[in-house]
Amino acid sequence: MVKPFLIGTRNAAPHLYRGIGVLKKGGSIIDAVEATVSGIEESTESGNVGVGGSPNILGVIELDASIMDGATMKTGAVGCVSKYCHAISIARKVMDCTPHAFLVADGAHRFAKVMGFKELELHTERSKTLAKAMALDGYKSLPDDWPNKEYYVTAAQELNIHEWYKKLSDEHQGTTNVIGMDSEGNICVGVSTSGTSMKFPGRIGDSPIIGAGNYCDNRYGGVACTGRGELTIRRLTSRIIIKYMEDGLSMEKAIIKAFKELHALKDGSCQCIAVDKNGNTISANMTRASSHFYMDIDMTEPKERQGILVEPD
Ligand code: GLY
Repeated sequence: MVKPFLIGTRNAAPHLYRGIGVLKKGGSIIDAVEATVSGIEESTESGNVGVGGSPNILGVIELDASIMDGATMKTGAVGCVSKYCHAISIARKVMDCTPHAFLVADGAHRFAKVMGFKELELHTERSKTLAKAMALDGYKSLPDDWPNKEYYVTAAQELNIHEWYKKLSDEHQGTTNVIGMDSEGNICVGVSTSGTSMKFPGRIGDSPIIGAGNYCDNRYGGVACTGRGELTIRRLTSRIIIKYMEDGLSMEKAIIKAFKELHALKDGSCQCIAVDKNGNTISANMTRASSHFYMDIDMTEPKERQGILVEPD
């Protein structure tokens, strides 16, 4: 029998205790994953998730999130949420309270309001400063009353879209990934992000796309991805890793195979964290050493676990 545990990316580490607290009080693994991701969304420190996330090209912070239950294969996801902080909890409500799997923008806002969520200003002084620091050519002299939407709209219309795209580096991304497993082997995966910094308005990455940034199935394991979402969307990386495990590969070999296929696309990089059905954990990165953070129900603080680097052939 597995000791109930959570794993997360580095930005999740300070919040894992929150999910473990939920488990200790008898909450489900889904409750624990949601609580952990919520903690990150509320924190102004993460820089790419929830409050104080990275703005898009119009200076608006648009959040994407998803949650998946490996026991039932039920999922909930939201995209382009700019008025509420707890994207993961809105995604959970989509999963639990609607016949749908994915709501975006105005529809997601309308749903959040109906569900009783409170609107919140997502910008912090830090996110405004960050946006100025990352401002594109032609955006250098920002008005003091930023975000001045009209100014940005005009500038965006004048922008050479290909030049802008080249400026989006892999560093302009950040996501939180959390995976939990309970003593009965039930797996839940939660993912939340403000997406690629300076993204085009309306851009949705892999985080809320089930199969790309998030996937789990109690029979095999769970995977969550971060990095360039456009890459994992093309290969449905989270799903394909589970599929390779289903076909008999070990978790590590499944990830190596999937990441080598991403390298072949030559269009950016990504990372993942994963668990298998036996409670083994791993993380992987395409460009540098990787690690993830583990905390079980008996631990008082998370422990860093080294992962693998998957290089191209
Ligand atoms: N992986 C997060 C994103 O591309 O938005």
